Amino acid sequence: MTRPLDGKSAVVTGASSGIGAATARHLARDGANVALAARRKQHLVDLREELEDEFDVEAAAVPTDVREEVMVEELVETAVDRFGGLDVLVNNAGLARGSSVEDLSTDEYRLMMDTNVDGMFFATRAALPHVRESEGTIVFIGSFAGQYPRPFNPVYAATKWWTRGFAHSVAAQVGDEGVAVSVINPAAVRTEFEVPGSGDLDGSGKFKDRFAPGEAVEPEEVAEAVAYVARQSPSMVSELDLYNRDKLTLF
Ligand SMILES: NC(=O)c1ccc[n+]([C@@H]2O[C@H](COP(=O)([O-])OP(=O)(O)OC[C@H]3O[C@@H](n4cnc5c(N)ncnc54)[C@H](OP(=O)(O)O)[C@@H]3O)[C@@H](O)[C@H]2O)c1
Repeated sequence: MTRPLDGKSAVVTGASSGIGAATARHLARDGANVALAARRKQHLVDLREELEDEFDVEAAAVPTDVREEVMVEELVETAVDRFGGLDVLVNNAGLARGSSVEDLSTDEYRLMMDTNVDGMFFATRAALPHVRESEGTIVFIGSFAGQYPRPFNPVYAATKWWTRGFAHSVAAQVGDEGVAVSVINPAAVRTEFEVPGSGDLDGSGKFKDRFAPGEAVEPEEVAEAVAYVARQSPSMVSELDLYNRDKLTLF
């Protein structure tokens, strides 16, 4: 049986949990070989075994801190060497820390900037020569937080505005070379993600515990959106918003 991404190769950052793990599963189910990147090695090793057993693809567990440019370059080279090229980069690794600007420590500020901004830049820079060759796709996981101003955690939100701005400008730079660049903006997704400081609006704690099924987007829904975006050719999805239906009522 032919699968939509048979023979393709992908790198997924932040593959140890949540949206990244769900995305890796979906891409593998669609036939892609997948390099799994994050810091928690055992999560990656377990997922690699699951993907290879269940979906008859090759997977690589590549422990990576996206804040370290050399590690990110090695991640991309590993995928290219193992799978013979790179068709899809999913720039997903990200986190939120702290809350209001006055209370945000410099360490928390740098952690968000280094992970959400520098990490996406390092991965994009390393992947571009290869996705240019394959006329592949770079997918950025943005956020609702990167589309509208919000009263809590402005620095996290700003990293996501950066993501969208960077993604669309990369698209402008390399679109005529056949590279697709897509941004997916989920609203709250039921993962290990937490946004300290979101206070009365949502409570606190991991989103998978704070929201009951049906109250927020599921990581598998975002994964399905990534897989849809990854198979578009010759056109591309520029931006795709994925919200729970009452998001704009609550907003
Ligand atoms: N959940 C939401 O409501 C929501 C909404 C919109 C957008 N997003 C975005 O979706 C993306 C994924 O988040 P999620 O919801 O799936 O949360 P999650 O379950 O907490 O996953 C975050 C992932 O990022 C990885 N990561 C964090 N720092 C890293 C680093 N320095 N190097 C490598 N990997 C790192 C984590 O792995 P390790 O800890 O193993 O390194 C983990 O795999 C993030 O960019 C987030 O901003 C989430």
